[in-house]
Amino acid sequence: MRRALQMEDNMARKKIIAGNWKMNMTPTEAVALVNELKPLVGNDDVDVVFCVPAIDIIPVAEAVKGTNIKVGAENMYYEEKGAYTGEISPNMLKDAGVAYVIIGHSERREYFKETDEIVNKKVLKALEHGITPILCCGESLTQREQGITIDWVRQQIKIAFQNVTADQAKTVVIAYEPIWAIGTGKVATTEQAQEVCAAIRVCIGEIYDEATAAAIRIQYGGSVSGASAPELFAQADIDGGLVGGASLKPDFGKIVNYNK
Ligand code: 13P
Repeated sequence: MRRALQMEDNMARKKIIAGNWKMNMTPTEAVALVNELKPLVGNDDVDVVFCVPAIDIIPVAEAVKGTNIKVGAENMYYEEKGAYTGEISPNMLKDAGVAYVIIGHSERREYFKETDEIVNKKVLKALEHGITPILCCGESLTQREQGITIDWVRQQIKIAFQNVTADQAKTVVIAYEPIWAIGTGKVATTEQAQEVCAAIRVCIGEIYDEATAAAIRIQYGGSVSGASAPELFAQADIDGGLVGGASLKPDFGKIVNYNK
């Protein structure tokens, strides 16, 4: 019964497949890539998002006009405006046509020292401006080996959602990305990915309620490819993927069309 309900919820949630281009593609290259991928990523069953470097947002937004592709940013600052040299505000993103923003990617946590508290401020600010956060969480290899994966991820989620209302939380996209699977070609097994995504959903249910847990979309990220996508996305608690390397290649079309 519980499993049947879970599958019903799974069907009710629209899959979301997002590319994270990371620090790749000049504006010229970005437009060429969009034009190459455009015909490959049509699939009305899924939301398709290209999260691109800040400088590529405007040309990419122009290039995707009239398609099913939505534009996302890879980062955002949590202040409205002012003396924050080099940062980009939610208003700027919104005005440029951004619908989603990746927040708290493990690379930003590691190289740019983003803490759970900073992540929480960014989530709140994005929601305030009507930009959907793609909130990243995930454990290191050491943490997995120590057996603390679920405790760690739960902690990240609890802090990220502080002061976020249930109605807001329903719109957030969570991306579970085990750090050891990012860019390594070492994709988590479907069991490992499903186990943590299910635990995240339970955690959301504890913070809010069953309805919020059933509504929120949880992606898996880490070496997703056209070959691994169908099995991953068939799991009860996996609602799509956050894709790095493969989002820069025609393979992204296969990932988006995982169900065809
Ligand atoms: P890869 O798909 O290259 O492993 O990257 C995953 C990722 O970090 C997406 O945000």
